[in-house]
Amino acid sequence: MGRLAILGALHEEIADLLAAMDPGAETRRIAMRDFQVGTLWGTPCVIALSRIGKVAAAATASIVIQEFEVSRVIFTGLAGGLHPRVRVGDVVVADALMQHDMDARPLFGRHEIPLLGRERFDADPALSALLLQSAGGFAREFASGGGQPSAPAQPQVHHGLIATGDVFVNDNELAHALRERLPDALCLEMEGAAMAQVCHEFGIPFAVMRVISDSADHAAKADFTDFLVNLARVYTAGILKPLLLSGALREA
Ligand code: ADE
Repeated sequence: MGRLAILGALHEEIADLLAAMDPGAETRRIAMRDFQVGTLWGTPCVIALSRIGKVAAAATASIVIQEFEVSRVIFTGLAGGLHPRVRVGDVVVADALMQHDMDARPLFGRHEIPLLGRERFDADPALSALLLQSAGGFAREFASGGGQPSAPAQPQVHHGLIATGDVFVNDNELAHALRERLPDALCLEMEGAAMAQVCHEFGIPFAVMRVISDSADHAAKADFTDFLVNLARVYTAGILKPLLLSGALREA
């Protein structure tokens, strides 16, 4: 039996989870990060703020796996919508992740992770299915409760490819180029595929859940900030609470 690790890149993306941990949770500080170890909604967890970007996510994933007896890792947070079907307020659960800024040509193919012989890392199907189910329940409840002023009335839940890179995409031309190059990518973020690579190398099942905060266009900075302040917590806790309370992740 192992713990569930829950990682997020920004405080607002995990704040409600930290606040909801049972009393008695302990903090261990390693490599300039705080790891909160305890019970969240009945499930043994370690929760950590990775900070932004691929290196930060990879370092955090390596630490939780090596130091905290983790049996699964979930990365949660916001993302910029890329695919035309994906709108602000929707939820994306990864079926696979890739690094859109990996380019070691001509030594390796575009997007290929050198010496791993692959471009994509598959998320754990069972863990992802649980997130999809919980996100679907949250979306229906959110819509029936009238949603929130800055979110769509009926969030959709998508399952597909997430593209990760060390760039906040705030530019219509770059978003367009990425859409052309990666027509099946649903959204863009800055950590998921790095965490996925580390979990793959350690053989630890993982899943990534992202809420769409912006459309990776000229308005992305303002839209992202607004979503982060007003809605990130509502979604993260709203999706993870019923899942953890169900007990489905209590045992490895
Ligand atoms: N995370 C949220 N929005 C993003 C964007 N536009 N680009 C990269 N990461 C993001």
